[in-house]
Amino acid sequence: MNLANRNLVTIDDLSNSEIEALFSLADEMANSPNEQAGLCQGKIMASLFFEPSTRTRLSFEAGMLRLGGRVITAVDIGASSLAKGESLADMARVVGSYANIIVTRHPWEGAAKVVADYAGVPVINAGDGSHEHPTQTLCDLYTIRKERRTLKGLRIALWGDLKHGRTIHSLIYALARFGATILFRPGPGLEMPEHVLRRLSTEYKGELKRYEAVNQEVEEGLFPIDAIYMTPSSPHQLAMLPDVSLQVELKAGVDALYVTRLQKERYAPTVEAQELKKGYPVVDKKLLKGKEFKKTLVMHPLPRVDELTHEVDADPRSMYFKQAAYGMPVRMALIALLLGAKEITIPEKDDSFALKPDYPVYKRDSGVKCPNINCVSNQETEARYIKPEFKIVSREPLTLRCVYCDHELHPRYVASSDWHEGRLENKRYHSADSHFARKIKPENLIIFASENEAQTQQFKPSSYVRQ
Ligand code: NCD
Repeated sequence: MNLANRNLVTIDDLSNSEIEALFSLADEMANSPNEQAGLCQGKIMASLFFEPSTRTRLSFEAGMLRLGGRVITAVDIGASSLAKGESLADMARVVGSYANIIVTRHPWEGAAKVVADYAGVPVINAGDGSHEHPTQTLCDLYTIRKERRTLKGLRIALWGDLKHGRTIHSLIYALARFGATILFRPGPGLEMPEHVLRRLSTEYKGELKRYEAVNQEVEEGLFPIDAIYMTPSSPHQLAMLPDVSLQVELKAGVDALYVTRLQKERYAPTVEAQELKKGYPVVDKKLLKGKEFKKTLVMHPLPRVDELTHEVDADPRSMYFKQAAYGMPVRMALIALLLGAKEITIPEKDDSFALKPDYPVYKRDSGVKCPNINCVSNQETEARYIKPEFKIVSREPLTLRCVYCDHELHPRYVASSDWHEGRLENKRYHSADSHFARKIKPENLIIFASENEAQTQQFKPSSYVRQ
C-alpha cells in the first residue's frame, strides 16, 4: 500500500494498521539509519516552525537529511511574509511549489489543515495550537510498543495540562483506538476539554466514568484521578464495577505515566496562571515509590519544567529521552511513506475502534462561527477566504464541530432553506431543540448564531421558538 501524497494533520489520518506498518518501517530505519540515503534523494522538505521547537524540528530535519533529501526552513513568523499579513493559504501554495513535503507548526488551531488544503504536497502537522500533535503521538506509541509489545489493555495515566496539551489530545484518540484504558490526572482547572471527552465516548465506543478527584485522594491514599476511560475489549466493564472500578484499576498498576508541562504560552500571565502553576502536580521519586507505579514507564514529550524532577532521570522506568530519540526513525519512516519512497503492506482487516462516522457538513454564510478564538477560521488574515465549516455531530441537542479545531457549539436557532411552498411569509426560524427543527434535512438546515441574525436575514419567529 502506498501512503504517497497523504497528509498527517490529525492522528485519525492514519488507521491502526497503517501506524503498525509505519512502526515496522521505523524499526528498519533505526537498525540501519546510515543506509537510507538513497530513499529521498532530490527531494526537499520545508519546515515551517512558527512556535519554539527543538526535538520535533531537528528530528524531522535530521531524518530528511539521513534519507538523502534536503531541507529549507522558516522558523520565525516575524521574518516570514505572514508578518506582512499574508494568509496561510497563500504561503502554503507558494511553499508547496518549492518543496516536495511540508512540516508545519503554528500557534493557531487548525492551521495545519489550512496548509494541507492549499499546499498541493503532503503536509505534516507538527503541532497546531492546543489542537493536535500527531507525530509526537507516533513517537509515544512506538515507545510504549517497544517496552510493552502491545497497547491493548494497558493502563495509561495522562498527567498535567490535559486542557491545552496537544500531545495529550492526539495521544488520547490513539490510545482509545488501540484499546488502552486511560486514567486522567489533570492539574486543577486543566481538565480534558468537553469536546475531546465527547468524541471519546461517541466515536471510540468506550466508556467514560468521572470521579470526584479530591475525595479519591483522601480515601484511597492513591494518586487522584478525575476520570477513567475504558475501551471496549470487554463491554460494559465500568458499568459492572460501579464504585470499586477505580481502586481495581489503580491497584493493578499503571503501565505508563504520561507527564506534561503546564502549557503556559496558552495563558495570559495573570493571577489565574500563577494559581495554575502552584497547584500543578509533580512526579518525583516519592510518588513513584507507590505500589501502583512499580513497573510504570515514565513518559514525557519534553520539554519538562518543574512537573518531573531530575532525580527520576536515573530511574530505569524513565523513558523520555528514549521517546525523544525515537523521533528520528519514526519521522524518517513517515517522510519516506508520504513521499512514496517506501510502501507498506497492511492486513485487509483493520481493527481500529474509531467509528469514523460520516457526519453531514454545514457550510453556509449564516453567521455561525467557531467559538474558539484561537481557531484559524477566526483570524483576520484567514477569515477573508475561510468559510466556517462544521460537522453536524448531533441533532439532539444540535451540536456542530468545527472542521478546523474540533471545538463544538450548540446553536439555538435554525430554519429550513426549503420553506413551505416557497412563499416568503413562510420564511420562519425555530428553536433548535423543537421537534420541527429536528425534522429539517441536513442539506436544508440553516443555522443562526442568534435570533437577531435570523431576523436580519428576514426570517420571522415560528411558533416553535421558545421565549
Ligand atoms: C510538545 C509540544 O510542542 O506540544 N513538545 C514536543 O514537540 N515534544 C510538548 C510541549 O511543548 O509541552
